[in-house]
Amino acid sequence: MQHLMSELSGPLRYKLLSALVVPRPISFVTTVNEKGVVNAAPYSFFNVFSEDPPLVVIGIGRRSDGTLKDTALNIEANGDFVVNLVDEAIATAMNVAATDFPPDQSEIDPAGLDLVASSLVAPPRIAQAPAALECRNHTTLLVATDRRLVVGEVLAVHTREGLVDPGNLRLNLDAYRPVGRLFANLYCRTKDTFELVRMSYADWLKQNKER
Ligand SMILES: Cc1cc2nc3c(=O)[nH]c(=O)nc-3n(C[C@H](O)[C@H](O)[C@H](O)COP(=O)(O)O)c2cc1C
Repeated sequence: MQHLMSELSGPLRYKLLSALVVPRPISFVTTVNEKGVVNAAPYSFFNVFSEDPPLVVIGIGRRSDGTLKDTALNIEANGDFVVNLVDEAIATAMNVAATDFPPDQSEIDPAGLDLVASSLVAPPRIAQAPAALECRNHTTLLVATDRRLVVGEVLAVHTREGLVDPGNLRLNLDAYRPVGRLFANLYCRTKDTFELVRMSYADWLKQNKER
């Protein structure tokens, strides 16, 4: 079955694409407004795209009434944000923070979360998050009236004790337990993993000659 984007409305494109490209990591973004109110909201149009420079991208839409979301407004105003990564333990809090609270009310208290000061950027990070990326706005692509792609340069990374081996930076997935977003209200855990060892072309030739 072929689905031509040109024949689908925006909401139907969203439905199809966001259900197919799964699981998506969740960026639980903290920003701060001009009054010092800390905003927290989840964004799953998100990933890391480069390590040199270290860049992440977040796709931010508008509210149904056409207004800009607080995260977009705050990043536009001061350029700083923190991507807090989401594990099983803070998944419910992340969902509370997705509620559209007014800009002068922080999502942090209603979600039952605590904040820790960041080292290099103004917005604090979430204390309960397993990892957090302190970011500065690199570029924002205004790809449509309703969609902006915020590119952030990662300046510092924080990881919870026991998550990363300090000697070789190897991650302990059992200690991490990140969740992914599927579609609608569905999420997945990362317990059921499997390994595929990548082979060189020489190994592939050897294996295929022996058959
Ligand atoms: C798991 C999850 C992922 C979300 N991902 C996005 C996203 O990628 N882009 C977006 O514009 N909204 C996304 N939302 C909706 C925003 O979180 C929601 O509009 C929120 O109220 C925005 O808050 P803010 O105005 O404080 O930034 C997502 C919601 C949830 C629960």
